[in-house]
This record gives sequence, C-alpha cells and structure tokens, in this order.
Amino acid sequence: MRVLLASSEVVPYSKTGGLADVAGALPKALSRLECDVSVVTPRYTGFGARKGDVVSHETGELILSDLAVPFGGGIKYASVWRDYLDGAPVYFIDNVEYFGHGYIYGSGNFDVERFAFFSRAALELAKRLGGPPDLIHCNDWQTGFIPAYLATVYSQDPYYSRTATLFTIHNLAYQGFFDPNLLPHFGFRWDEYRYGMEFHNSASAMKAGIHYSTALSTVSPKYAQEIQTPEFGNKLDGLLRWRRNDLLGILNGVDYGDWNPETDPHLAANYSIDDLSGKLACKLDLLDRYHLPLDPEKPIVAIVSRLTVQKGIDLIAQAIWPMLDTGANFILLGSGGDSYEDFFQHVRDVKHNQVGVYFGYNNALAHQIEAGADIFLMPSAYEPCGLNQMYSLKYGTVPIVRGVGGLDDSIHNFDRTTEQGNGYKFYEYSSERLIEKFYEALMVYYDPALWRKLQRNGMREDLSWNRAAHNYIDAYQRVISARRR
Ligand code: ADP
Ligand code: GLC
Repeated sequence: MRVLLASSEVVPYSKTGGLADVAGALPKALSRLECDVSVVTPRYTGFGARKGDVVSHETGELILSDLAVPFGGGIKYASVWRDYLDGAPVYFIDNVEYFGHGYIYGSGNFDVERFAFFSRAALELAKRLGGPPDLIHCNDWQTGFIPAYLATVYSQDPYYSRTATLFTIHNLAYQGFFDPNLLPHFGFRWDEYRYGMEFHNSASAMKAGIHYSTALSTVSPKYAQEIQTPEFGNKLDGLLRWRRNDLLGILNGVDYGDWNPETDPHLAANYSIDDLSGKLACKLDLLDRYHLPLDPEKPIVAIVSRLTVQKGIDLIAQAIWPMLDTGANFILLGSGGDSYEDFFQHVRDVKHNQVGVYFGYNNALAHQIEAGADIFLMPSAYEPCGLNQMYSLKYGTVPIVRGVGGLDDSIHNFDRTTEQGNGYKFYEYSSERLIEKFYEALMVYYDPALWRKLQRNGMREDLSWNRAAHNYIDAYQRVISARRR
C-alpha cells in the first residue's frame, strides 16, 4: 500500500498545534508497520518572524528545482526538498511567493490561495515520484483541495484512476473560507464549485475536502459523532450527516519517543511508573523556573494551551480565584489571545507567590510542565482529540477535563472506592462543575497513597501511535477498496 500524507505542519519542521504532532508521528508508526508512506508539506522560509510558529526547514536535500504547477491561469514553479522521518520520506514544496513569508498561517483569501497551490503542487509532485499513491491522506482545510482537484481536474487522468482520498478533520472550526471568484484562478471551473465548495455566499476549503474525498475521519470517535450535530457542526453538520457512513473516528496517539518521562531530555530528572521520585525534582525545577516558592507540598495546577475560546480558557478564568483560595499554585504556558494574556498577567501580579505565567510558545517548557505539575486543566468548549491530556497521563499528572471529543474518549473519572479511572471530567460547560472536580481531585491529592494509584492508572495506559496506526491501516484498506468498487 502506497500512501501519501499531506499536512500543512509536521513536527519537527513546523508546528502551531496538535496537527503537527500527528503528521510527524503517524508516518513513523505507519512505516514501522511496513506501510509505504511519504509525507508532503510546504517548506516555510523567511522565518523567525512570528510568535507561535516553530519552523526549521534547514534540513533536507534539494531533489527537484523545476516542479511545474498549473495555477493562477498559467504555470508556477516550485522546488522540492526531501528529508526523512525515520523510514518515511518527507517532501517539502518550496515556493517563495507562497511560503517565503516567515509564517505558517496568514489569513484571508491569500492564505487559501497558498494552500490551493500547495494542494495542486502535491498532486504534480506525486506524478514524479514513481508510481501513483493508492491513497492520499489529507488533513484539515489546507489540504481540502486535493480531493477536489482529483475529482475534477484530474478525473480523466489515468495516473490517478485508482487513487483514493481520506480526509481527516482535526478541527472543523477552521474552514479556509474564500471568495468563490477565486475558483477559476485555482483551476476549477465555475460549474464545478457550486455543489462542492460553495458555502453561504462564500466558499470553503474544508467543505471541498468533506464533499470530494472518498472517505472522512476525525481524530476521536466522540468528535465524529459530535460534528454531526448543530452544536459542534459549524454549519457543516448536514453535509456530515449525509456522509456519515463514510465517516469514522480514530483517536490520536502519543509519540512516546518524544513524550516519555523515562527518557525526556528536557527534564531535571527522569522517572518511571516504578519510581516516581524524579517527578519531585521536576516539580521543584518547575517552581524555580516560574520564580515561585519551592514548596513541594502544595499542588501545582497547570495549563499548556493556545489561548482560545476552544480551550475553555473562560472557565479557567472564572475558576481561578477559588482554586487559588485552596493554596494551590497555578502555572500557565499559553500562546495567542491578548485579552487572556492581560487577565492572567493581572492574576499573576495579584498572587505573585502562587501564580506563574509564560506567554508564547516553548516546547521544552511544555515538557517541563507536564512533568512538574500535579494537575492539568483542559476544560475545552470542544476538543477534536487533544494531546496534552494524553501526555499528562504518561507523566503522572492528573488531568481534569470537560467530557467533549477526544477528552471524553481518553479520560475516565477516578472512583475512590474501586480505584479505577485516570483523571476527572465534567460535562456541563460551567466553572462550578470545573471547581467541583478540582476539589474532588484535591481530596485525593492530600491522600498520597491514593494519589499514587491515580497517577499510576494514567501512566499505565498505552495510547501509543502503534494502536492508532493499525486503525489507520485498516481504514486505508477499506477506503482503497471502496474507491475501486
Ligand atoms: P491544539 O492542536 O488544538 O492546539 P492539542 O492538544 O492537540 O491542541 O495539541 C497542542 C500541542 O501544542 C501539544 O503538543 C502542546 O504541547 C503544544 N502546545 C500548545 N501550546 C503550547 C505552547 N504555548 N508552548 C509549547 N507547546 C504548546
Ligand atoms: C486540532 C485539535 C486537537 C487535536 C489536534 C490533532 O488542533 O484542536 O484537538 O488533538 O488537531 O489532531
């Protein structure tokens, strides 16, 4: 099986969020299972400009300097670079006009144009890689045009006559809206878009992916159900209900090569499920980094997050004062969202002995927080999968989550009598429910033997990519045979 995975971000080359973690880890897991997988992604250059974007495309070798891409009413050219993620080749589409601006994402029509170009370039590149892919695995709106091009522009192209597409939705809220007048510029005929891309007087690259792909998936089983409802469907729930027989949910995995307290190079001390003593050293190190008193008795409650409405930051803002009243320390690592930054800076100024904040993107610190904290908050408004709660489990840090999407699939309430469960979760979107769960967790925190039990329940879980990669291979096989029927 020959698979090409297309993604706008791939760890370790580029990252703004969890999509990059997935696109970096899944190909490695797939190639360990003997799947012939390659990755295609843009080569972002002119970098260093923007907070929140990690970009290091200095690696790789130039393999093509003349990739001709029909686009914008003519031909545009790209260079192609190649690197390897373990066994999987990664191809970088290099075009300064579109990807030389020092950022991963911009906004508006130009952003959609950038990724329409990328999508077309990926298909032209695949024609030069010595054999058509059996399946192209597309991810989020940035690659939504790939299924659309295959179903229209390339529909009579014998090279792609057997190529299936799987379109994975990582976040339905970002849809890649654009002016439909651009469609001819992207290479689509007017009559072709109305049906598959038009969206309330605008057009949507997300809708293109959903409409034209052979099959669809999301990053957790629960989110696959949720997006078929008006509450979570972002006005695409009708279309998703229509395609529900082609839609499945596969929970993301964790790259334990990267996120494992036994081997993590970012930590003050390593530790394991059998010997948690190093976690105390990590806690003291974390307090020190945030200039807080080195008191190991008090619990550290932490968040590592994009500061957006999605992540339930409003609930945390409402719950923070009662949480601090218990004496707990609060530590934040967050990027984006100026008004949230102002609020948490204010909390820090008032409670400088209990609160630490770091605004911006810092990968090493994210690891140090997962290790040093006791409790991790993720009260998301919606959460397609969520990775941090799964990292927390591995690091013996107890997650308190709202039971949506992948959070509901991965976190199970701890029961003091049966001693089963790996964290805490609540359902109603309310700070009262969050505080209740926090108090419940605190009672267990002050009972060290029981707390160890809860920590170990989480650390024992196997949420590795190996499991998820098996699920993807099964899905790929089904989608390929559906295409061939
Ligand atoms: P999302 O992709 O919606 O932001 P996920 O939980 O899937 O949420 O993934 C977020 C990823 O980004 C995790 O790997 C997390 O550690 C990382 N992350 C989020 N915010 C920051 C930050 N400010 N600094 C460093 N890493 C961050
Ligand atoms: C998106 C979602 C997040 C998910 C990630 C990777 O960024 O917001 O929940 O974990 O994609 O699939």
